[in-house]
Amino acid sequence: MLVDTYGRAATDLRVSLTDRCNLRCTYCMPEEGLQWLAKPDLLTDDEIVRLVGIAVRDLGITEVRFTGGEPLLRPGLPGIVERVAALEPRPQISLTTNGIGLRRTAAALRAAGLDRVNVSLDTLRPDVFKTLTRRDRHKDVLEGLEAARDAGLTPVKVNTVLMPGLNDDEAPDLLAWAVEHDYELRFIEQMPLDAQHGWKREGMVTAGDILASLRTRFTLTPEGSEERGSAPAERWVVDGGPHRVGVIASVTRPFCAACDRTRLTADGQVRTCLFAREETDLRAALRSDAPDEEIARIWRLAMWGKKAGSGLDDPTFLQPDRPMSAIGG
Ligand code: GTP
Ligand code: 5AD
Ligand code: SF4
Repeated sequence: MLVDTYGRAATDLRVSLTDRCNLRCTYCMPEEGLQWLAKPDLLTDDEIVRLVGIAVRDLGITEVRFTGGEPLLRPGLPGIVERVAALEPRPQISLTTNGIGLRRTAAALRAAGLDRVNVSLDTLRPDVFKTLTRRDRHKDVLEGLEAARDAGLTPVKVNTVLMPGLNDDEAPDLLAWAVEHDYELRFIEQMPLDAQHGWKREGMVTAGDILASLRTRFTLTPEGSEERGSAPAERWVVDGGPHRVGVIASVTRPFCAACDRTRLTADGQVRTCLFAREETDLRAALRSDAPDEEIARIWRLAMWGKKAGSGLDDPTFLQPDRPMSAIGG
């Protein structure tokens, strides 16, 4: 088990497969991109599968999510999924992606053992998409979403970040669209994890704003709290059901007390929290031929040091050095 001093157990592992991305969302990366990790610094496919194996066999991990950057840019992804799906006990396997490569890959990933996907999409308007992501790929995302649903990577969830003056008027339209297409929409409060360090609390659309906007067109009733568990999203039943909408209010309603996550960066560092300032190097242990028990021990020790929460409300809060794209959302 991966437990911490606050009594939480991490059962959900998020693995970043690359820090690169084919979009340049303004709340994440500058136009010119970032200083990418060098190839030799990245974990190899074998190293990733070995670490996930240790996590499921020795550390109680039951869910594995692949993230990025953009994880579909990793050529070995289908093979990694297939090998992780063959582990005993088999974990649930999911992917968080911008959706661009899904039209091409959804069916093969499903066949390899991927269970479901979460796709980021902030707007229904192609021109706004181009402004927000600095790339003209709106159609590719919509097609990717359909391919994921048709391949059975369900429930397909859509992650949306609203920004004042850009897309904050779109919440009801996005929900109507998601209901129509059978996607589960979740709105995410913007967090201070942008590479440019430009986040401001006053510039953020809050869960309260989002719910008020949705209620102009929909009736929302809270889902029973027993259904939430440690999921970051609070969910509401839309117009009596069966569809749901979620809000991930990391800033205004933090859920750290129920956190069940541990993270692995693409260069093999354990992070106990999105906002952690420390990392623990598993890559060095792997590459010095440490046995599984030693790697499990280092991982347990790292998680024992997990802080109570993000520290976002502390006056001394400092944004982590790595941006979201290098931590893996
Ligand atoms: P499921 O609900 O299991 O489908 O996944 P998820 O919502 O955890 O995964 P996803 O990768 O779609 O994450 C959506 C967003 O939730 C991320 O972009 C973050 O904004 C937020 N999030 C995920 N994990 C954490 C976490 O541990 N802490 C905080 N504060 N936010 C998180
Ligand atoms: N705050 C909140 N969400 C973010 N994402 C990326 N950067 C941020 C941020 N600063 C979202 C993406 C994606 C998910 C993994 O994280 O839109 O849906
Ligand atoms: Fe967990 Fe940290 Fe996210 Fe809180 S901010 S939910 S402790 S990862």
